[in-house]
Amino acid sequence: MARVLVTRRLPPGGLDPLTEAGHELVEPDGDNGFGHDEIVALASDVDAIVSLLTDRIDAAVLSAGAPRLRVVANVAVGYDNIDLDAAAELGVAVCNTPGVLDETTADLAFLLVLAASRRTWEAESDLRGGRWSGWDIDQYLGRDVHGAVLGVVGFGRIGQAVARRATGFGMEVLHHTRRDTGIVGWRGDLDGLLADSDIVTLHVPLTPETRHLVDARRLGLMKPDAVLVNTSRGPVVDEEALATALEDGTIFAAGLDVYEREPQVHPRLLTAPRTVLLPHVGSASVATRTRMAHVAASNARAALAGERPENLVQLPTKE
Ligand code: DGY
Repeated sequence: MARVLVTRRLPPGGLDPLTEAGHELVEPDGDNGFGHDEIVALASDVDAIVSLLTDRIDAAVLSAGAPRLRVVANVAVGYDNIDLDAAAELGVAVCNTPGVLDETTADLAFLLVLAASRRTWEAESDLRGGRWSGWDIDQYLGRDVHGAVLGVVGFGRIGQAVARRATGFGMEVLHHTRRDTGIVGWRGDLDGLLADSDIVTLHVPLTPETRHLVDARRLGLMKPDAVLVNTSRGPVVDEEALATALEDGTIFAAGLDVYEREPQVHPRLLTAPRTVLLPHVGSASVATRTRMAHVAASNARAALAGERPENLVQLPTKE
């Protein structure tokens, strides 16, 4: 029997793979998760950590855990919160939860495509605030989604799921990846895709190469009536530059679910025109969050059994 640190209470049933295997769970008492200091303090006494994307699993946690700690199973497809180099060096395997959240996240991305393009937030907040004086010919005019050109940046499972939705809206879909996908609409040139798209949606992981991938220069390439949607990771977009683009009207609108310094939101984005802001809810459905927890728990269980977890991001270099 192993001891598994679960940094926050997870949806009911999500940890069944670990409890069914007879492992002992170390969970926080209340609704709040363990803080970084608590995770460091607890790490030396566990064989596995089931972490969330908000937990910084850095060298302090990993070296506190070594040599007992064998695996970190992140309840997220992204793993930019984990120091992969330290994990490899300290003999800790790292796993994530790809696949199970694609459709739910794509739903949310498409919601932002629609909401930002059609300015639904401004319209609803006026209505709720008693500022709607009745129908008028020039109120809340947005941009059409049907028939528009959608530029999908990053064409993994989530990007492709968004593209499938777009075809139902009669959109032309372009996509950018560095390597040729061989699929119609591929553009190796990101700048060209940004210039040719009416709506751009981001689906790349956060890496040193994608940090501020969409910066002031690239925002400047977008059409004045373009819409930018980000459900990937906040730092992929330079928020300062995006706020300027929205304020100056050099792009039309934005729909964001992720931010550079979560849970803080850039104050200029809070007041920027035609901006729809959501609090990182891309995968937030009951079924999907439960599946994510289950997949992470299965990954941890496999690693603890000495098997290869299904969703291995990285094997330790030191075994
Ligand atoms: C992930 O899994 O990386 C998502 O951001 C969670 O919604």
